[in-house]
Amino acid sequence: MSCTVHETSADPRVSPDVATLDARYVLPTYARNPLELVSGAGAEVVGADGVQYLDFVTGLSVSNFGHCHPHIVAAIQTQASTLIHCSNLYVTRPQAELASRLSAMANGGRVFFANSGAEANEVAIKVAKKRSGAAAEGGASAVIVTLDRSFHGRTMATLSATGQPEKQAPFAPVLGGFVHVAVGDQAALEAVFRRQKVAAVLMEPVLGESGVVLVREGFLKAAQALCEEHDALFMLDEVQTGLGRCGAPFAYQRFGLSPDVVTVAKTLAGGLPMGAAIVGGRAENVLVAGDHGSTFGGGPVVAAAANAVLDLVEGDGLFHRVEEAGARLEGWLTPLVERGMACEVRRLGLMAAVDLVRVSAKQVVLDALEARILLNATSDVTLRFLPPLNVSDEQIDRVGSFLAARLSAEPPEKGLGPRKGLDE
Ligand SMILES: Cc1ncc(COP(=O)(O)O)c(C=O)c1O
Repeated sequence: MSCTVHETSADPRVSPDVATLDARYVLPTYARNPLELVSGAGAEVVGADGVQYLDFVTGLSVSNFGHCHPHIVAAIQTQASTLIHCSNLYVTRPQAELASRLSAMANGGRVFFANSGAEANEVAIKVAKKRSGAAAEGGASAVIVTLDRSFHGRTMATLSATGQPEKQAPFAPVLGGFVHVAVGDQAALEAVFRRQKVAAVLMEPVLGESGVVLVREGFLKAAQALCEEHDALFMLDEVQTGLGRCGAPFAYQRFGLSPDVVTVAKTLAGGLPMGAAIVGGRAENVLVAGDHGSTFGGGPVVAAAANAVLDLVEGDGLFHRVEEAGARLEGWLTPLVERGMACEVRRLGLMAAVDLVRVSAKQVVLDALEARILLNATSDVTLRFLPPLNVSDEQIDRVGSFLAARLSAEPPEKGLGPRKGLDE
């Protein structure tokens, strides 16, 4: 996550005692926005100052059906008063049903339930390592290929997979066995396969944390074909893109791909912590009893919440509406490029970004707060938009007209000058 560092204690939007406790007792690994939130309903959240904000961040693609959706709240309440926890020593109906629904929605595989996106990716990594280790003659270790500027999580294995040296540097040495190639560089990918044994390719179909970098369909297909040719696993990280955000159950389905492993988290349990690795294809029978586990993973309450989320994902017309709403948002962003205020717009479904040229994206996030809108900047250049999937036209227009007014108030001569977009 990237956002701006602020002194929350000095801001009237944060209760002074909360600011003091936060500053003293919470490990300062996050750059906070200067806002304390107390409640939410639909696309709106309410701050401690009593002000209502329109949320185009959704807790980073988590509250995809808006805050406190009644169907999700009811599922959590019912299950919480029935059985909260029993561990994975026993089976439960919510977990078994959720596994079958996720399997049917993805690649027909079997599901491991974890508690976060990073943990879901850990499963993918362990599957790839075990499978290639077992196949390797004399223990020759195979590599996992990921993309430059990718983001797969903060645990040591997923940080090692993440293609961002600046995030890895404080924790060096990170785990070996990962090779990174530039987004879209098919020749580099082919060279890795020629040079060494590859256990798997792990990719985000859209690089969310790096600013909604779209990976070309041709590159994704070439990666899948190389994996098939060399008996490596093709694994997709859909932690941010999955479950409707990109206008399909999974973004990869828009490109007709068939991954062996798909990971998902974020919106899966509607705001409760849950991740899942859907392990199918050539990977399905790799992990056996004792290979992996989680005390909390797939517990009854999160599983019930996730079943409620899947009801909404499967709701009539969702993907059509996501595409329509995404196009409407893009309709506000594209003129910013035409009018010289931005240099690039990227979008898949309702996952969108614009690269600004005259003003810092982080400054625009702060200005949006004054206008009672929550936005997210992935860098000083890029604004990322992750509105609820059931956002209304009027809400999109409110954000679009704020941006048009805010950016046209910035004179070109005062600007930062055109910068290269982040896309491939
Ligand atoms: C594509 C992707 N993978 C993995 C993660 C890590 O998920 P978590 O923070 O739940 O561990 C993220 C989080 O932003 C993500 O966007």
